[in-house]
Amino acid sequence: MAKTSVSTLLKMKQAKQKIVALTAYDASFAKLFHDAGVEIILVGDSLGMVLQGGDDTLAVTIADIAYHTRCVRAGSKELFVIADMPFMTYSNPAAACENAATLMRAGANMVKLEGGEWLYDSIRLLTQQGIPVCGHLGLTPQSVHVFGGFKIQGRDDAQAERMIADAKALEAAGAQLLVVECIPSSLAKRISEAVSIPVIGIGAGKETDGQILVMHDLVGISAGYIPKFSKNFLAETGNMPAAVKKYCDDVKSGAFPGPEHEFN
Ligand code: KIV
Ligand code: NA
Repeated sequence: MAKTSVSTLLKMKQAKQKIVALTAYDASFAKLFHDAGVEIILVGDSLGMVLQGGDDTLAVTIADIAYHTRCVRAGSKELFVIADMPFMTYSNPAAACENAATLMRAGANMVKLEGGEWLYDSIRLLTQQGIPVCGHLGLTPQSVHVFGGFKIQGRDDAQAERMIADAKALEAAGAQLLVVECIPSSLAKRISEAVSIPVIGIGAGKETDGQILVMHDLVGISAGYIPKFSKNFLAETGNMPAAVKKYCDDVKSGAFPGPEHEFN
């Protein structure tokens, strides 16, 4: 059993202790991150971009995520591992269950799905059958072609109210964790207050219950540029374990993300 669990994460939110999450795709980095104090490892479908070199995450398959989940799990039995459900692998509740089962068998502790209230039935069914779910709102990269690019979401009032309603619907369906990506900090704060499950932010300011980054962004080797919401922790520390330790310390203390990393 992983050292961290859905109950420890919930207690951390209640105690206002920041949760530290990071993506990883293999055993060596997963172990290093866990040893440095990272509480959640996400096997993100961002691997379609940072590992496979794609322009977006749409080409990633369940087999890809299952493979990398097995690799990450091999890094430590104690890790709390979330595995991403790829594009079009949860378009109905039955498909969601079958595909999520593959990821749980590969060693995941939880699966993550992108989307709002329309996922209600799938999340209900998954949790009823013993599969913990993490929601994902805001800039959900699998919808990049609907958004017309990787753009900040939730900027107008109607969008913001919709997102708060979606967060409540995901929680009501049984989701036990929520990721919010690239939204104004004020909205991320409202969402974190509106639900009792922990909310993990990326490009969502410092008021969420925790933070997550794509590991490549943290060490400054993202394709082409460092996103505004990220920071190169390797530059100021000089080695990988120290960089990850600094990221953990800065999230815990509230030093990261700073005002320069947020959207308003
Ligand atoms: O795929 C991923 O790495 C993610 C995080 C950015 C939240 O979904
Ligand atoms: Na993802």
